Amino acid sequence: MSETNLQVEHGGFADALDSSANLIGGMGLITRFGAGIDIPGRFGDNLILRHFSLRKQSLLMRVTVQDSGSKGKHSGPPDIAQNYLNGLVSLLYRMAADPLVDRRIGGAVVLDRPEQAARVFREPESFPKSYGLLNLLGNSRFNTDGEDWASRRAMTQPSYNAASQERARTRISAHYMSELSKAAPDPGALRAALTTASLRIFLGALGFDGNPKPFVDVLDNLRVVARDLQYGSLRPLPQDEIAELEERSVAARADLRELLQRDDCLEIRGRLRFPDDPRGAVASDEFLLNLLAGVETTAATLCWAIDRIGVNEQAQERVRDEVRTGAGPYLDCFIKETMRYFPPIPYVSRSAGRDMDLDGVGLVKGQPILVSIVGLHHSPAHWREPDAFIASRAEFLDGTYDRSAFAPFLIGPRTCGGARLAQMELEEGLRALLTCFRFRRDTAEVAFDYGLAMRPGALAGVEVSRL
Ligand code: HEM
Repeated sequence: MSETNLQVEHGGFADALDSSANLIGGMGLITRFGAGIDIPGRFGDNLILRHFSLRKQSLLMRVTVQDSGSKGKHSGPPDIAQNYLNGLVSLLYRMAADPLVDRRIGGAVVLDRPEQAARVFREPESFPKSYGLLNLLGNSRFNTDGEDWASRRAMTQPSYNAASQERARTRISAHYMSELSKAAPDPGALRAALTTASLRIFLGALGFDGNPKPFVDVLDNLRVVARDLQYGSLRPLPQDEIAELEERSVAARADLRELLQRDDCLEIRGRLRFPDDPRGAVASDEFLLNLLAGVETTAATLCWAIDRIGVNEQAQERVRDEVRTGAGPYLDCFIKETMRYFPPIPYVSRSAGRDMDLDGVGLVKGQPILVSIVGLHHSPAHWREPDAFIASRAEFLDGTYDRSAFAPFLIGPRTCGGARLAQMELEEGLRALLTCFRFRRDTAEVAFDYGLAMRPGALAGVEVSRL
């Protein structure tokens, strides 16, 4: 029996993505969502009566114009970038459900078959990174290739590996428990607490143990800048808006450079500095995208976990029991299903390094490519009931899932540098959430809030009570 069914539809959105004028109307995301649970329950009766399929018909439609909840300056009218990006994610879901939807977004080809993705991931020399305007945030291991990437990776990877040793688990757990025990029982406060905890853990991995508050402020601004750059990478922007984005990027980099000059950041500077970088300029640029990559993603995943576990009371009790009594399969399964359904990085950008044929898709050198992680994770050829959120999904419980169709951290040489640390954070974060709070959701809707990581929009509709 399926536990949750999702339907995603678009009011002419595929066309709208290529025409900014249409998007500005705020129809960025039209999500149809019916949620059910293990056994008939609050939404279950509804669901079972109307057992529907993403591939056939639709239900519960609502137009969501996102409140990004982010602070900071916007380029252009507010929410255009946010709505565009939310719509883009929505379109990836639509593509996953319908092979006939045109697999192009802007000038980029969308690849969503696991066989295609595996080649892109395993041959980074043939598919270099292509992050467009995000490169205005400076170079780091995230957006460089070849030898430059390898030497940058060598600066941070030992720290991330050390931070994810089993003995670090107690400390990671303590960060989540400490932030969550202070947090008010409301979704906004929980989101902030989860972000602070994952920020502390990230900074701790790089040897910083001080007050994270200045980093919280920098991160709030960076998130909005990165989101707008992401938008500008996909949409043709007028020159004056690009100039403004350049200015904001320069300012954000300068803020971070200044912050890293503080005495208590000596250890971070030391770990990230190239030998020929006396002023620490490279260190702060290297730090910047690592910071975004290492904090946003984990917090976003835990927010999705709250969002889903609130709908499913039975799964919530089952996982909470497991947390109380010790190890078991359900917590890990729930985390995996959450990341399968809502991959925090919904797609990655590459370009074709040469002319080639990629499993029937002709690519010319320089062709921008988006590999849809949403598409891999919802592939009907690789998942049973791909559009159902199944808290106790058999493929995860018995380990039979196809590894090429599950890549929340990517696979191959460019795999997430913090995957092991993130996995430990997700386990301890979810344990702490279920130990401190009970969640209940009154609405079956889903809203995306996609900037650099995809998170649930405002966590609307989740009631939180302290245990
Ligand atoms: C749930 C949490 C996370 C998810 C889903 C995630 C996902 C990803 C993905 C998909 C990429 C590949 C991006 C691309 O190639 O375009 C990536 C790269 C990266 N992530 Fe994560 N990440 C998470 C947490 C973290 C954490 C906690 C850290 C650091 C402490 C981190 C550090 C990095 C770094 C440094 C890269 C660049 C890897 C390279 O190319 O050298 N991530 N992540």
